[in-house]
Formats: sequence, structure tokens, C-alpha cells
Amino acid sequence: MPKDTLSITDNRTGTTYEVAIANGSIRAMDLRQIKTGADDFGLMTYDPAFMNTASCRSAITFIDGDQGILRYRGYPIEQLAERSTFVETAYLLIYGELPTAEQLRDWTAQIAAHYTVHENVKKFMDGFHYDAHPMGMLVSTVGALSTFYQDSKSIFDQPSRQHQIYRLLGKMPTVAAYAYRHSRGLPYAYPDPALSYVGNFISMLGQRAGACEPYLPNPVLERALDLLFILHADHEQNCSTNAMRSVGSSHADPFCAVAAATAALYGPLHGGANEEVLKMLRDIQSKERVSDYIKRVKAGEMRLMGFGHRVYKNYDPRARIIRQAAHSVLEVTGSSPLLDIALELERIALADDYFITHKLYPNVDFYSGVIYQAMGFPVTMFPVLFAIARTAGWLAQWQELLLDKEQKIARPRQIYVGPAERAYVPMEKRGGV
Ligand code: CMC
Repeated sequence: MPKDTLSITDNRTGTTYEVAIANGSIRAMDLRQIKTGADDFGLMTYDPAFMNTASCRSAITFIDGDQGILRYRGYPIEQLAERSTFVETAYLLIYGELPTAEQLRDWTAQIAAHYTVHENVKKFMDGFHYDAHPMGMLVSTVGALSTFYQDSKSIFDQPSRQHQIYRLLGKMPTVAAYAYRHSRGLPYAYPDPALSYVGNFISMLGQRAGACEPYLPNPVLERALDLLFILHADHEQNCSTNAMRSVGSSHADPFCAVAAATAALYGPLHGGANEEVLKMLRDIQSKERVSDYIKRVKAGEMRLMGFGHRVYKNYDPRARIIRQAAHSVLEVTGSSPLLDIALELERIALADDYFITHKLYPNVDFYSGVIYQAMGFPVTMFPVLFAIARTAGWLAQWQELLLDKEQKIARPRQIYVGPAERAYVPMEKRGGV
């Protein structure tokens, strides 16, 4: 019997089947042959929330959740965090290799050339309520960009796809900055292609109304934000990436697909978690109240936000890097009582049996909120920052999907549990008033 196979005996029929094992998986479609009779549809797997189902083959990001390992295109996240920049990392994710000096110059210039958005985008954004959440504005405005760039529908045309990648990477920070300025009642500030990717973004946020000089960010904070962008740039098949791939699989244009992915990221269990972490740290108020809070988490009253991960059952390597970066940021911005509370929470949780047995460790969101807050970002901007960075990963995954011959429109199966066929009941026979 070949070694890389799985023998399955269907006890309903006594028939034994052999299915191939490759890359530690069997193909779900190989189960379809397992039937009780000619009318039987064939065996399916039931996997709500994709707990144990690979939806694609990907060469972009590798995670070993038990070991706490994260690599982009083979490069350990720790090395990229220390030596790369977000723009270079975005190139790596999308093209699979680190760029040469010339490629990086060209890539950076192309993205910067696409920072600006059509003037009508400002009018569109003006329509949002004064207290609109910036993430809601980002979701809608990125979707609306699809109407400005109708050539983006040519998704199988490589130069066009390339163009949309420049556009999306270039325009996400601009739309994000506009959303921020709208929520503050400030005039929109134009991007400056002479500044770095992150420098330009910070400048658009901080530019004083009517000032002629660009707003230049503190280099330590600029580097810290760039680092956070690197760490958030991709994370294989997470909820928003799955949304990007799912919508992309219908051959929607990438602006619509990124809008869908951004919407998925908005949820408090995904990109909204760092906002929740900050609320939680504020609720706790002081280090002395941490133990009580942990007791309430263990009693099931709430979850410890920023802890736990579907994939990591060990310390999230990104959390470790961010925790270190927090100290250099706070040297510039001044100490943060919230960091002290977070460190105490981590100390107590990691020694607690509940967290040990459930394998709950700090995730990327646990410390990122503390840094963002120290840098002066309002909490509503936290998921927006995540979205800017994750756009690089979304685009890499989208392109991989389109070039993957095995992919089709995403369409899961279901197990129907509703009523069997029944006759329509006329209104007069339904009872009630
Ligand atoms: N605090 C307390 N208990 C938890 C937590 C938590 N943060 N996370 C999971 N658990 C418990 C949960 O109650 C369950 O316990 P039991 O088996 O006794 O019922 C067990 O751990 C497994 O939980 P799960 O919900 O089945 O795990 P999941 O893989 O579906 O959820 C998660 C992963 C990230 C949604 C979850 O850990 C969570 O809600 N964490 C808090 C929110 C958060 O920090 N999200 C950011 C995720 S990282 C960034 C990103 O991907 O966007």
C-alpha cells in the first residue's frame, strides 16, 4: 500500500477507500466518492470557522503557531523588523523577493506617485457625519475608489494589476488621513511624495491648517510606526485576508475586495481588538486592580482582549517586538500608565493556570494600542493603521489567488438543518392578529 495515503472504511457500507495525503492534508473532494448509494451526494467535511481546513496553497507567509514563528517569504519577522522598511516588505510580500536598490527606488517612487486621490474623494468624504468612525469611512471610501478606477476590473491584465497595486498602496494612507482629519473637523492635507511612506502619512495627519512647511514627524516615532506596519503587513489566512480572497475570487476589482477585507478587519475580534485592549486597560485603571480583572475573565464575564489567537498557541512573535518598541516610543512621548497595567496583566496572566492550559498569550494587539495611544492616535484610528499595513498582504494574497489555477469562486457547502418541504400557508391560516 502506498505510504502517503489514508485508508478510510465507511462503516455504513463496509467499503474502504484510499485517499492521497500531500502536505499533511487530504483533498476534501476525495471524500466525495464515499457514498452509501447512487443518490447519496457523497461525504463532506463540516468545519465551521475553517478550524482545520486549508483554503489555498500559499507561498507568502509561514506561521508555526506552536513555536511562535512568523516569516514573510521565508524571512523571519524579527529580521525584517530590525532591518527592513514597510515599503520594502510590501515589495517582498507581493513579488516574493527582496528588491534590488533600483527596484526599491522605482517601487517607492511609483507608490508615492499614487498618493493623491481625485478631488471628488474629498467631497465624498465630506458627506460623512462629523462623528463617523474612521474605519467606516475607510471601508466606504476604498470601495468608492472602484468607481474612479474602472480599469481596475481588468484583473487578469498584469500591467493593470500592477497599476492597482501602486494605487492601493499609495492611496490607503491618504484616505486614512482624510478620515482622521474629517473626524477632527480639519481641512484635508495633501500628501507629499518627497517624504517616506510613513513620514508622509504622519505629515498628512499632523499638518497644521494653512501651514506652508510640511509637518515633519519625530524620526523615532516614524521608525516605530514603520515597524508596526511591517509587523501587520501579512498574517496568512486570517479573517480579513479570507474576505479579500473570497471577494477576489468572484473577480471583483481590487478596490471592492480591499473594502471587504477592511470591513472584516473592523470587527473587535480582528483588527478592532487593539481598540478593545485600550478600553480594557483604561477600565482596569491601575496595576492594583489587575488581579481582580483576571478573576472576572476566568469567571467568563469577559475575554482578556489582546490575548489568545486562533493560530498562535505560544507568544506571538510580533507582540514581543512591539513590547520592546514600546519602550523606545515612550522615551520620546513620556511614560504611559497603560503600559504598566499591560505589563502587569501579562505577568499575572502568564503565570495563571487558566491562561497556561488554554495556551493564551499576548497577541499583536496587546501592546500596539499602547504605542499608538502614546503617539497620539485616537483609538478609532487603530484599526485604520492596521488596514494600511495589511493592504500589502491583501494585495499579495489577491494576486496569488488570481494566478492560482486551482482556485475558483469561493463557495462553501452547508449542512441544511431547516424544515423539510412544506406547503405555503395563506395569511388567514397563520393565526395571530
Ligand atoms: N480571554 C479569555 N479566554 C479566552 C480568550 C481570551 N482572550 N481567548 C480564548 N479564550 C478561551 C475561550 O473562552 C475558550 O475557552 P473554553 O475552551 O474553556 O471554552 C478557549 O480559550 C478557546 O477560545 P476560542 O474562542 O475557541 O478560540 P478562537 O481560536 O476561536 O479565538 C480569538 C481566537 C483571537 C478570537 C480569541 O482568542 C479572542 O477572542 N481573543 C480576544 C480578542 C483578540 O485579542 N483578538 C485579536 C486577535 S490577533 C489579531 C488579529 O488576528 O486580528
